[in-house]
Amino acid sequence: MKSILITFLLANLNPVDGIRGTVIASPSRENPDYYYHWVRDAALVMSVVWSQKLGDSDELLRDFASATKKHQELSGDANLGEPKYHVDGKPYTEPWGRPQNDGPALRALTLTKWAQALLNRGETAYVQKALYDGRLPSTSVIKRDLEYVAHHWSEPCFDLWEEVQGEHFYTLAVSARALQEGALLADRLNDSDAAVFYRQQVKKIKKSLRRFLSSSRGWIIPTLRNSKRNFKTSDLDVSVVLGLLHSDFIYLSPTDPWVLKTLVKLEESFLKTYEVNKHGPGVAIGRYPEDAYFGGNPWFLTTAAMGEIYFKLAMASANPELAQAYANKGETFLERIRYHMPHDQRLTEQFRRDSGFVVGASDLTWSYASVLTLLHAKEEVLAQRRQVE
Ligand code: NOJ
Ligand code: NOJ
Repeated sequence: MKSILITFLLANLNPVDGIRGTVIASPSRENPDYYYHWVRDAALVMSVVWSQKLGDSDELLRDFASATKKHQELSGDANLGEPKYHVDGKPYTEPWGRPQNDGPALRALTLTKWAQALLNRGETAYVQKALYDGRLPSTSVIKRDLEYVAHHWSEPCFDLWEEVQGEHFYTLAVSARALQEGALLADRLNDSDAAVFYRQQVKKIKKSLRRFLSSSRGWIIPTLRNSKRNFKTSDLDVSVVLGLLHSDFIYLSPTDPWVLKTLVKLEESFLKTYEVNKHGPGVAIGRYPEDAYFGGNPWFLTTAAMGEIYFKLAMASANPELAQAYANKGETFLERIRYHMPHDQRLTEQFRRDSGFVVGASDLTWSYASVLTLLHAKEEVLAQRRQVE
């Protein structure tokens, strides 16, 4: 399964009609039209390209950095929360939910991991020129994104689902992680005032994240000052799980009771929501129970995220029996994904809540990335187990 997913993922990078470094969200050009470089999707996909060394990963990251430079220049430093770009690099200018401030944070995070590896290899000149110049105003991609995040994180923005304006657990968690990793890079490149400033923001963001631990609900809620309060009434959203994962648990550890309670509630709610969950292995997971987009279906990337977090729980549990139970649980989400995956193994965005057949954007790049990440988390658990034995 893995190698074919990699092939399909790589096919969505560098489209012939786009600038190098473009990552299309999906080849689908209508119903829905996803033929764009979405900042969030692209950053998450490129993070997997780098961490799993897919294709010529160094070259792909270099291209990604150069496309990012173009995107930033065409938007301007005040508008780095722009959610998507045409494949020629121009910002999409039609009405859309903007800004989406998770984008620059995720992008900085992906590029920072790569920059650290380049520095380890002695490629300091390129890093200082293209990625982190330590200047203000900056012309380098990571520094520009970090400055944007450091100055705008407290402002309301659209959520990762592009629907709700407010303050979001997801966006804040990934912003904190981006600034924390950014501070390490700043230290390494002697930009020590910036490192101090970024760390101050991390502290403030963590403080602000406390407000999402809802004592009245008893779980982590996704959004405060929600512009669509009447529509999203459950306060349950898998974006919280994605936020924990994509911020590498900067705020709460996998075994934190708040996390466990949130996972249980999410699963309970999706179990009831989808007809398809009456049969088959595991539980199909969607974005949030009230979702109506494309009929409101479970998604591959959200089901994969639930699986992944259970494997992370398995890794973090000191008790071997508990660890085994969490790993088994993670496996059930992987089985669910396999259950709905067509024979050709091409993954759309969603599968239908009633029949289970695939629907929505075809060959969604983020779907491939999310299943690869899930498989990787499972491999890590297996490797840990082998070490113990
Ligand atoms: C497109 C967005 O990307 C998606 O998240 C949203 O649900 C639909 N528009 C409907 O608003
Ligand atoms: C809709 C999703 O809600 C959003 O998160 C994503 O960025 C776009 N589709 C593109 O895949």
